[in-house]
Amino acid sequence: MLKLKIEGSRRLCGELEMQGAKNSVLPIMSACALIDSKILLKRCPKLSDVYAAAQILTSLGCRCKRTHEGMEIDASALESSAISDPLMRLMRSSVIFMGALIGRCGECSITYPGGCELGPRPIDIHLDALRQLGAQITERHGTLVCKAPKGLKGTLINLSFPSVGATENIMLAACTAQGETVISNAAREPEIVDLAEFLNGCGASIKGAGEARIAIKGVTSLHGCEYTIMPDRIAAATFMCAAASTGGEISLKGARARDIEAFINTLRQSGCKIYETENGIYLSANGRPKAVRPIRTQPFPGFPTDAQALAMAYMSIADGTTIFIEDIFENRFRHVDELARMGAQIKTEGRVAVVSGVKRLSGASVKAPDLRGGAALCIAGCAAEGETIISNVELIDRGYEEIENSLSLLGAAIKRI
Ligand code: UD1
Repeated sequence: MLKLKIEGSRRLCGELEMQGAKNSVLPIMSACALIDSKILLKRCPKLSDVYAAAQILTSLGCRCKRTHEGMEIDASALESSAISDPLMRLMRSSVIFMGALIGRCGECSITYPGGCELGPRPIDIHLDALRQLGAQITERHGTLVCKAPKGLKGTLINLSFPSVGATENIMLAACTAQGETVISNAAREPEIVDLAEFLNGCGASIKGAGEARIAIKGVTSLHGCEYTIMPDRIAAATFMCAAASTGGEISLKGARARDIEAFINTLRQSGCKIYETENGIYLSANGRPKAVRPIRTQPFPGFPTDAQALAMAYMSIADGTTIFIEDIFENRFRHVDELARMGAQIKTEGRVAVVSGVKRLSGASVKAPDLRGGAALCIAGCAAEGETIISNVELIDRGYEEIENSLSLLGAAIKRI
């Protein structure tokens, strides 16, 4: 089992270049299944979830090749619309292949997706929306069979919750449907905008991405393109918290402040100085952070749930008490027990966590509970006194390109063992 060993209490300083966004590249890789010609994805991050998406594409008959420029995907030879259960379980994003496959082949067969355990993660909103577009979906022995023998037909879809994945699935299915599809109460995350820009680059007609109303006019065909994946805003948040918790200073080349404004406001309240620079974000911190006003996770542009664990690790050493309210996922506090092993004082009740800042964390043996929870432990380990050993590193590798290299570049004493 892979582990990370961190000798903490070193001030993290320096510059990092941002990786491409995991939550953007995965739906874009699914989108490639919709397109009958070659695509080049630049700034494609080297993540285990990206390899999982490539495995799924390959299993469908597509060709995926990593070159020095990025990831080349050619789905012209796509020959299957069925994804096996072991491949579906590799990650949550496997469900986004549904929209692409039904759009391209008029049918698909999948099982329920895997992914981080953050509480129940149903796909009812995805299925309801695809049914509204005319798909017939039946479930037998855990396999979902979707069919649209007469093709999909654009319609008005009002989402009960602005689900990121469901918005992406609808966008993919609607690209080549007959007529216009309008999504109201759509997710507004920057990754939705990235997906729309990619699809429009391939000839789709999508307007309003980034707003609550997205309109997609069906086109008869899509073509290949070259596209550069947006920078990863959650990785940016991770390195900002890591530098801030050690009183450090960091420049993130390529990071976009507009993608994480709510998060940046929180860090500013804690005492960090943060500036948007010509080519990224600069942060400097000095001494112990101050506790901040309650952090409530919300759909974009609210505070991102993916940065909740990261901010909690940081606030665990703040002067004062910070309240966290997790409004997106039911069970996203699994990092709390691990932070407690390092001396953090955190009480949870339901979706609320009360973090009473301590002066110092102390290194301990801990286990990454999920991707962002694991990253939060890296932040805590960098700030803590003494040695921290983090196991379950495979979960962290789902979303970070060798996190130990990035942290080492900033001056952390961290090794993979
Ligand atoms: C995406 C992100 C994930 C992030 C999340 C919220 C990717 C690969 N993952 O996940 O990192 O934490 O957005 O910003 O982009 N829900 C339902 N029924 C559905 C769909 C969702 O009840 O059919 C619920 C979920 O259980 C959850 C909430 O809605 O409680 C948010 O889910 P959603 O926005 O769909 O997140 P994902 O797309 O899974």
